[in-house]
Order: sequence, then structure tokens, then C-alpha cells
Amino acid sequence: MTKKILILPGDGIGPEIVAEAVKLLEVLRNQFGLAVEMEQGLIGGAAWDAAGHPLPEETLELARAADAVLLGAVGGPKWESLDISVRPEKGLLGIRSALELFANLRPAILYPQLASASALKAEVVAGLDIMIVRELTGGIYFGKPRGIRTLDSGERQGYNTLVYSESEIRRIGRVAFETALKRDRRVTSVDKANVLECTELWREVMEEVARDYPQVVLNHMYVDNAAMQLVRAPKQFDVVVTGNMFGDILSDAAAMLTGSIGMLPSASLDRQGKGMYEPIHGSAPDIAGQGIANPLATILSVAMLLRYSLEEQELAQRIEDAVQQVLGQGLRTADIDSEGCRRVSTEQMGDAVVAALLEQNR
Ligand code: NAD
Ligand code: IPM
Ligand code: MN
Repeated sequence: MTKKILILPGDGIGPEIVAEAVKLLEVLRNQFGLAVEMEQGLIGGAAWDAAGHPLPEETLELARAADAVLLGAVGGPKWESLDISVRPEKGLLGIRSALELFANLRPAILYPQLASASALKAEVVAGLDIMIVRELTGGIYFGKPRGIRTLDSGERQGYNTLVYSESEIRRIGRVAFETALKRDRRVTSVDKANVLECTELWREVMEEVARDYPQVVLNHMYVDNAAMQLVRAPKQFDVVVTGNMFGDILSDAAAMLTGSIGMLPSASLDRQGKGMYEPIHGSAPDIAGQGIANPLATILSVAMLLRYSLEEQELAQRIEDAVQQVLGQGLRTADIDSEGCRRVSTEQMGDAVVAALLEQNR
């Protein structure tokens, strides 16, 4: 049966990188027999401009009807002065929440060809393969009450609420342990249980979940130490499970270990494994429109889409192999460039991945 993919390019470099992913999907459809149909929708600033809302109802309907969603990025200076309730980022948070995409998988893998692009010494990151499992629809991002209020003294006060219920912790815990079963069977749960009651409960529930997975070793780490360990000795981690905000921050840090934030894909999954796939980076307004953004995080997000939502393991692997192959050929976008390599544009990188894929098919 033909599967439906909703494409949401979004803002900034979003349309540029998504164009390369779509090109790849078209090749998979036309030459590799992948039965997919693609449709485009509006989200973020682009949706605000065209439809007056960062997440139009029509987009949500298309997303619900699709088997998977591929998203570029949202946001940018043009929309920063809008009220926070209608900013592009609200569109992204809104679709994650509406589709109940609570499990965000962010794999940080160092491709050996990029060892010299990492901010850390090659020996510290060689062979790096971490899976960050970030809770995506709860925590301080969604907790209430929230807002900015004026106190009796006349001073304004901003406030947000960090809140997790046991069931929310348990379900993301299960995803982490199930993920670990297919890997090195180690889970590090990251919290701030020495200070925040909410994460004290997080720790307790993770311990409960661990009892169902005797084959997996669980350890706990405070988030400040985790940030430090991530740059000191990142290979100690296998699966890292953490809340929404800590996961946001730690995954950007982990991205730099792999050479560039332009390399990190992600999958955001619901209970049934339906998902939205997106690079972890943003709309990169500083380089938007220049044709120099790295499309590989988005292309690798397509591989995750094939693996997790379409059960096309072989094609997913082919994409990942094609990416390794172009890196092996020395092709580099500006963010991962180093001496002796050939600098290419967004489009040239996309073309090279397609060429490598077709080469495999010969
Ligand atoms: P960013 O990730 O957009 O950019 C941070 C830095 O990384 C910039 O220097 C940028 O040029 C670079 N970079 C990012 N992606 C790249 C790529 N593919 N290739 C090469 N370089 C790349 O983060 P920011 O600057 O903090 O945020 C910009 C906007 O994006 C904000 O509006 C923010 O809210 C939004 N944002 C959106 C998402 C998303 O849609 N998932 C994620 C993060 C930030
Ligand atoms: C991400 C982004 C988003 C987040 C923003 C744009 C809402 O930083 O996907 O990592 O904080 O989740
Ligand atoms: Mn982020």
C-alpha cells in the first residue's frame, strides 16, 4: 500500500534542506520501488505569513492522515516580535503535542570520515554512538501555570512549571530501555534529583521501569555532570534518557561531538510508532538563502523515517551507506569542511548522496 509522507519545509534553511530530502525520496520512489506519496504543508513562520497561524488546522489534518511527517525547521528573526502564543516555534510544539509524539530519538553518531571535524580530539570521539531519548511532550515546555505576571510591588515576574506524571516518565523510560535492548544495554537517566522534586520522581520511576529490564544496566547522572561527561568522555554513554529541556540542551552539545549540528537527525514517535522526522538543528537564519546549509541531518532523518515508520530497513541502511560514501569521497558542506576536502553546496551534497545511492543499485 502506498504510504503518505507529509512534507513541512518551514522557515530559513528548512526549504533548502528539505528539497534535498525530497529529491532523495523521489529517487527511492522512481528507481527503488518505494511506494510513497508526498504532500506539502505549511508550518511555522511560513504558515503564519500565508495562513495567519503557525500550525493551521489543515496542516494538522494532513499530518494525522499521513503515515509520517518530514519537517525542516521553523523560526527566525522575522517572527521574533510576534506574541509567543503564535510564534513559529509554537507551531512545532503544537504538532508534537497534538500528535502525542512523546519520544524523541536523537542519535549522535560520529562518522569516522568526520573525526577531524569534531570539536573534540579524534581519540575522544572515535566510534561515538549515543542515542539520546528525549521526552518531547511534557516537562517545563508544557507545564502550567506559566506566563509573565505583575506582582503587587509592580515588578514583573516570569514563571514556568516543571511537571511530569508517573505515566509520562514510565512511557519514555520504556522507550529508552527497549532501545537499549537493541544496543549496548546501558541506560543513563539524566536528572537534577538533588534539587528538583519533579526529577526525584523521575529517578524513582526509572528505577521501577528498570526492574522489567534485568538485562539492561541503569545508572543516574545529574544534568550538570552529564553535560561535563559528554565533552570529557562521551563514549561512556549508550542510551541517555532525559526530560524535554535537558534533552534539548544535551543533544545540541552531542551534535558538536559528531562534527556539526548539521549531521544530527531525529525521530519523534507516538505510542504506535507513527512519527515526525526532523534534523535537530534550527532554521539557521545566519546562513539561510545561501545554499550552503548541510542537508545530511535531514537526509539521515529520511533514513530514520524509513526505518521507524515505513519498515524499510534496507533502504534506510542504503541511505546511511550513501552518506558515508560521500563523506568518504571528501565532499563537505561549509560546517564540516576541513583541509584536503572539497567544499560543496547544499544541492551538490544532495546530488552526491543520490548519485552514491544509484551507484549501489548498479
Ligand atoms: P540553529 O540550529 O538554527 O543554528 C545554530 C548554528 O548552527 C548557526 O550558526 C547555524 O548556521 C548553524 N547550523 C544549523 N543548522 C545547520 C546546517 N544544517 N548546516 C550548517 N550549519 C547549520 O539555532 P538558533 O540560531 O539558536 O535558532 C535559529 C532559529 O531556529 C530560532 O528561531 C529557533 O527557535 C529555531 N529553531 C528551530 C528548531 C526546529 O525547527 N526544530 C530547532 C532549533 C531552533
Ligand atoms: C528542537 C528545538 C525546539 C525545541 C524549539 C524550536 C521549539 O530547539 O527541536 O530542538 O526546543 O524543542
Ligand atoms: Mn533544540
